[in-house]
Amino acid sequence: MITFESVTKRYPGGTVAVDALDLEIPDGQTMVLVGPSGCGKTTSLRMINRLIDPSEGRIMLDGTDISTVEAPRLRRGIGYVIQQAGLFPHRTIEDNIATVPLLEGWNKAKARDRARELMDLVGLDANMARRYPYQLSGGQQQRVGVARALAADPPVLLMDEPFSAVDPIVRSSLQDELIRLQNELHKTVVLVTHDVEEAIKVGDQVAVFYPHGKIAQLDTPQHLLGSPADEYVENFLGFDRGIRRLAFFSAGQLDLETGTVLAADTTVEAARAAAQRCGEPWVLVTDGGNRQPQGWFAVSDLDRQPDRETLGSLSLPLAPLGHTFQVGRDSLRAALDATVLSRTGRAAGVDGDGRVVGITTYERLRAAIQTAEQAGLDGNPDQPAFREGRTTPEAQQAGADDAAEPAGEGVRPS
Ligand SMILES: Nc1ncnc2c1ncn2[C@@H]1O[C@H](COP(=O)(O)OP(=O)(O)O)[C@@H](O)[C@H]1O
Ligand SMILES: [Mg+2]
Repeated sequence: MITFESVTKRYPGGTVAVDALDLEIPDGQTMVLVGPSGCGKTTSLRMINRLIDPSEGRIMLDGTDISTVEAPRLRRGIGYVIQQAGLFPHRTIEDNIATVPLLEGWNKAKARDRARELMDLVGLDANMARRYPYQLSGGQQQRVGVARALAADPPVLLMDEPFSAVDPIVRSSLQDELIRLQNELHKTVVLVTHDVEEAIKVGDQVAVFYPHGKIAQLDTPQHLLGSPADEYVENFLGFDRGIRRLAFFSAGQLDLETGTVLAADTTVEAARAAAQRCGEPWVLVTDGGNRQPQGWFAVSDLDRQPDRETLGSLSLPLAPLGHTFQVGRDSLRAALDATVLSRTGRAAGVDGDGRVVGITTYERLRAAIQTAEQAGLDGNPDQPAFREGRTTPEAQQAGADDAAEPAGEGVRPS
């Protein structure tokens, strides 16, 4: 646990970068400090590893005032990742990663083994070990930066705008990687960013800063989106927070339409009857054996087809399936996206093996959103929210009967 106790940082010249900051950063979680440029995020972060000393107040790490610990010893337990990775240009990738282990006196072979292990962990190909930083893309360099910070297996990881210098697609995949790493390693991560989208995505807790080194709101992403403390936070979050909040509810809450999920050997007559029973203008055709979705027929088109023909034998083209969503894994937002993007205004929810579970409709989405909003308002704030890509006990449960890959395949550091 890292605790800021009324910490102030005044720079020469009088700028108050951080103003009487109180903050508790629990172990094993990702705490994101987010706010506009110049609000004191970097200063706050760099006080944790004593690159900057507070003017007033103190910072405790696991109950010890860090000002009483020699900086080099303190930093051995704290990995540090910065925006442009900050790699040594004349050292190979493996030597960059092995920097701290070598400083700690590991022999070269052991340090290199450790470097290889970490490359695997952060998703870097082993054949990059002997290359130099300039031979890697920005995203790959950033992975090296993370590997280097993790090399001595420190319990704390500080990250200052770690993904800000790479393009949006790479940024998004690095964020996914961080979430995956955290599922596995459970470090105490303090991450600084100006990007609220990133904060919401990777943070277990998010501290939104006012311009002058004071916290406007400290909350879980879900509660931040659900109840911003004031107009400043609300504006900072942006105007689509209603939709973004749906990312915190599982698509498993949907009551899906199943009456119009029809195997290819269903007759046209039976399909029409099913659609009528359900009041649905579309039916979803699946391949009979394993319920994999194929595409849609409009009921109005079926009216012109012979009763006895089966859906699979019609020469009528299927309307494209569109995106599906996975019921035990994806969020209500993913289900909504898939539905909105679909030509039929419907989307197929599938299980881990791609078999159809049921169909969304706007009506059913609306009902699930209403229930979710209600649950969000009444919900226990201490109960961890549903997060896409996170391992929670429920997600593990839901994934238990999937053949899907287990979370995290990297090598666990020794
Ligand atoms: N070494 C310094 N000397 C004087 N002022 C500084 C120094 N470093 C940062 N500042 C000022 O402190 C404030 C907070 O800076 P910083 O912590 O870097 O903000 P952020 O990381 O949120 O952009 C800014 O007004 C900045 O100009
Ligand atoms: Mg900064």
